[in-house]
Amino acid sequence: MTIAEDVLVRGSAGAGDPPAIETHGLVKTFGSTRAVDGVDLLIPRGGVHGFLGPNGAGKTTTIRMLATLIRPDAGTARVFGHDVVSEADAVRARVSLTGQFASLDEDLSGDENLRLLARLLGYPRAEGRARSEQLLDAFGLTDAADKQVKKYSGGMRRRIDLAASIVVRPDLIFLDEPTTGLDPRSRNQVWDVIRALVRGGTTVLLTTQYLDEADQLADRISVIDTGRVIAEGSPGELKASVGTGTLQVRVLRPGQRAAARDLLQRVLGTEVREQGDPAGLTATVADAGPVARALAALADADIGLAQYALGQPSLDEVFLALTGHVAETAPTTDPTASEEGPA
Ligand SMILES: Nc1ncnc2c1ncn2[C@@H]1O[C@H](COP(=O)(O)OP(=O)(O)OP(=O)(O)O)[C@@H](O)[C@H]1O
Ligand SMILES: [Mg+2]
Repeated sequence: MTIAEDVLVRGSAGAGDPPAIETHGLVKTFGSTRAVDGVDLLIPRGGVHGFLGPNGAGKTTTIRMLATLIRPDAGTARVFGHDVVSEADAVRARVSLTGQFASLDEDLSGDENLRLLARLLGYPRAEGRARSEQLLDAFGLTDAADKQVKKYSGGMRRRIDLAASIVVRPDLIFLDEPTTGLDPRSRNQVWDVIRALVRGGTTVLLTTQYLDEADQLADRISVIDTGRVIAEGSPGELKASVGTGTLQVRVLRPGQRAAARDLLQRVLGTEVREQGDPAGLTATVADAGPVARALAALADADIGLAQYALGQPSLDEVFLALTGHVAETAPTTDPTASEEGPA
């Protein structure tokens, strides 16, 4: 899918403008549950900011406060400098929340829904029609334009929701698990839309269960657990902070694998595991220093290597190290799976 850039472009922000989001000590309690327990955030304008955390961490509750849907119990939150409580209207004028502000009429077609929304949002009739056409095209829904939304497949539904939420281009969009349950192709289409929005100047706050999605899209990530921000940084910084990586080596002669394993184990001081591949070995290492010594020791022992690599931990490993939880399992990567229903 190609996205017409002009569909998604916003005016650019000047220097010295307030950040997209700034919160101090944000709290929300439901009965005895402190869903959000003192969240401090400083999210600059532009790019994708990822919100990661286990189920029930408080991500959606935080977003709902930022989007002015619920009031904080304590603390402050500003969106583009506007207080979410005392200046809620100014905040609402700048933000969009998929699936919430854009509630679609199931019995209307995609085109009818978008045109209706455009009219409600102040577009003259002809311009509303043009905007709908433009969005349907950008989201690959032109063929489904006249079909009732209730007959859309999951992937089409997610895209029309996203289209509806940007009829008027928002400065900030909250995407709360926008690709959960989508097949890989539909996920990719949503990712394209997100990237195009960012190129157009919109700031995206994204929660996702799929850490590869955060890795692909997010410039910075806040890891949230039990209502608090427990780590923050770029995906690379978070990976580096966990301080472990994976060394993988393949010996040239499989007969030398056992000797290589013993030697590596001794120098690295950690368990070295044999891989399914008869020449492969793998070890978890804390830093690169001993790795260089271990590789030198192998060369000294005349054990030739076909290949070696020192990889960063995956974001999944970071998540586990930080929260003690395993992230939700990734969606199917079956390339033949499709969300599209008959058009
Ligand atoms: N309206 C509500 N009434 C009572 N409790 C709520 C309400 N909304 C959220 N909670 C509770 O607040 C906590 C945080 O929920 P929240 O939905 O913000 O988590 P989340 O990080 O979005 O989780 P998930 O990954 O499952 O979407 C949970 O314990 C949840 O049960
Ligand atoms: Mg949630």
